[in-house]
Parts: sequence; structure tokens; C-alpha cells
Amino acid sequence: MSTVLLLNGPNLGILGDREPEIYGHHTVDDIARSVADEVAGAGWQVVPVQDDCEGGLVRTVHAHRRSTVGAIVNPGALMMAGWSLRDALAAYPAPWIEVHLSNVWARERFRHESVLAPLASGVVVGLGAFGYRLAARALLELCHPDHARRS
Ligand code: DQA
Repeated sequence: MSTVLLLNGPNLGILGDREPEIYGHHTVDDIARSVADEVAGAGWQVVPVQDDCEGGLVRTVHAHRRSTVGAIVNPGALMMAGWSLRDALAAYPAPWIEVHLSNVWARERFRHESVLAPLASGVVVGLGAFGYRLAARALLELCHPDHARRS
């Protein structure tokens, strides 16, 4: 069975409780379930990992380099300066999509640049938890042979 890595970075473990007016009411578990639901039809499964430490995220990317068909990554604030996560993703061989729940360009200037985005296959911002579903659909489109044939 093909596996998708779902990576959530610092402060995303408290989603649902964290500034819900910005990030919404969904928890990381809700998000993991919705991504699993999105890819289940294709026979894929999801490995959801949330880590507040950059080193833990780097290790997770390494550990899943060969065993996953793609990844969905919300790096949280590591988008701005997560250079070691960036390098880990540079060595990740499959497509991956960067997701941000909030529209980072409508917020403070320090959130306007991602050091990861130039390496991503695509970026989804500002659509809340639904953005993860869209990222899952994009991975299906990019990686699943049946889906690619249909489009
Ligand atoms: C975020 C946006 C980042 O700027 C912020 O540091 C986060 C969450 C988002 O999903 O909107 O932690 O990645």
C-alpha cells in the first residue's frame, strides 16, 4: 500500500485551541483523518507526524524518504528559517506540497517568504484545513498513475 507522509511543524499540535480565529477549529487529528479519507479511495494510507522540533521533523523526513510516495508539509514558523528542514526536503525524492492554514501573505511581513516553497511541487495557503485535502488531491494527481491518466 502506498503511503503519504503528513508533516506538521511547531505549534500545530495545539490546533483547534490555538488562535482559532486564524487557524480554525480543526485539530491535527481531524486533519490527519481528512487526508486519510481523501486518499483512501486510491488505496493509499497516511503517516501523520507532528513535531515541535526541527530536528525531529528532519529525522522524520529521512526515515520516510524511501517508504512514501509523497508528502504534505505544514512547516509552521519553520517556513521562514527552517534551513535544515529545507535541506532534508531537498533530499526527499518524491513530490511534496507545502500547506499553510492561514493566508500568510495577508499577515505580518515576516511570514511572507518561505525558504521551503521553492522546492515544493506546489503550495496551498489560506484555505484552512481544507487546504490539506487539496494538497492530498494534488499528490494523487502527481503520483497516482490512474489519476494522472484521467486528467
Ligand atoms: C502557519 C503559518 C505560519 O506563519 C505560522 O508560524 C504557523 C502556522 C499556517 O498554517 O497558517 O505556525 O504555517
